[in-house]
Amino acid sequence: MRATVTMGLLLVTALIWSSSALGDSIIGSRHDLSFFNQRGYNGSTSGPMQGFTFNDYREACIYCHTPHNASAVAPLWNRNLPDSAGYQLYDSPNFDSTVLNGPDGISLACLSCHDGTISVDDIRRKPAYHGWSDSKVHYRMDATKAGRGSQSCAKCHSRGDGGIGGVNAAHDATVRYLSQDLRDDHPISMVYPTREKDPQFIQPTITKKDGGRAFTNGIQTYEGNKVQCATCHDIHNPDEDNSEGRDPFLRVSNKGSALCLTCHEK
Ligand code: HEC
Ligand code: HEC
Ligand code: HEC
Ligand code: HEC
Ligand code: HEC
Repeated sequence: MRATVTMGLLLVTALIWSSSALGDSIIGSRHDLSFFNQRGYNGSTSGPMQGFTFNDYREACIYCHTPHNASAVAPLWNRNLPDSAGYQLYDSPNFDSTVLNGPDGISLACLSCHDGTISVDDIRRKPAYHGWSDSKVHYRMDATKAGRGSQSCAKCHSRGDGGIGGVNAAHDATVRYLSQDLRDDHPISMVYPTREKDPQFIQPTITKKDGGRAFTNGIQTYEGNKVQCATCHDIHNPDEDNSEGRDPFLRVSNKGSALCLTCHEK
């Protein structure tokens, strides 16, 4: 009996360990900026960006969180936010939602890296120790021609456009550099329509503390019942090896359009 219990516990522990190693931890994922150099290049341990492309603070959380002096836009947020007036937002003839002045809430937290206006290592509070040194150049996730100057990640991460290294240039990441032109992206920062307003929207059933609402599968709105980047994405849940059939950081798999059909009745 005891042996079975111990085995059971071992199994559970092993499962927890393997799931965190495989997909449930931000550590070692593309959102762990302290790990870029350890991910290596063809298995090499001297990483591709050692020392000069951005500040490696030697800790994962600090690129986004700080215990003190945080911004309120996301939990203990350690980044300054882009100017919400600088964006072009989605619009169409059928679009019911009021077009806002710009993105707001937690979406600005994502855009503080993904719109290419702020460098990824530009944080409010830097660590005092750990022996990191200022790289002096501060690269941004900018894919535009103009931004592809000396301090754009796209200098190497834009295949086919002369990425440094020729055939061995770094993976093409330009699709991840959203820019401030969001007209080609799923709309964000609009209030989720009520049944009365648009019967083609399925209503979330769970009420959250921040005033947002959630579906049972984890898709959720935020303060003011608004759709934001984190509605569809869970930044802490990468599944980069696709073991759950999700695209990295999606809250649910979109197989069979399951993610879209959570909200849209089509
Ligand atoms: C790339 C940015 C980023 C990094 C790196 C990051 N986080 Fe987060 N974290 C977020 C965002 C954004 C949220 C809010 C998510 C939401 O509300 O949907 C969050 C939420 C949290 C929360 C609140 C969770 C909750 O359920 O309310 C905790 C705790 C947290 N992070 C801890 C950590 C720790 C510890 C690390 C380092 C190991 C870390 N985070 C690294 C962006 C990040
Ligand atoms: C500290 C900077 C930073 C913040 C903040 C941040 N990201 Fe990222 N994100 C990155 C980097 C760097 C990559 C990897 C780009 C690459 O592949 O070169 C990335 C990649 C991604 C990917 C693609 C992952 C893949 O493997 O294909 C998604 C999805 C994503 N981010 C969503 C978000 C969302 C949603 C938020 C806000 C909740 C957010 N990010 C906030 C830096 C950030
Ligand atoms: C000097 C060229 C260069 C610059 C500039 C550069 N990188 Fe890289 N990066 C590489 C190379 C080479 C690799 C390894 C090959 C690969 O993963 O494509 C790499 C790997 C990565 C990875 C790991 C990909 C994976 O799946 O393991 C991420 C994420 C990344 N870079 C993001 C960035 C970000 C964000 C910036 C800007 C702050 C940046 N890079 C700037 C050359 C560069
Ligand atoms: C309505 C749901 C939804 C919202 C809202 C949303 N995304 Fe996504 N995002 C997705 C899906 C689905 C994918 C996978 C697309 C694919 O496989 O082509 C994705 C992919 C991505 C990628 C990876 C691009 C790629 O093709 O590799 C990034 C980066 C990203 N999203 C960032 C964001 C940011 C930042 C925001 C807010 C400005 C946001 N997303 C808002 C659903 C959403
Ligand atoms: C969290 C719920 C939610 C999810 C998940 C979601 N959407 Fe949406 N979508 C909305 C809302 C809300 C609008 C704004 C509708 C409006 O105001 O007319 C919208 C707008 C759109 C529009 C523009 C409609 C127009 O009138 O121009 C399209 C197209 C669309 N979504 C497709 C998708 C696809 C494809 C997916 C899956 C990748 C998806 N949506 C996932 C909530 C969602």
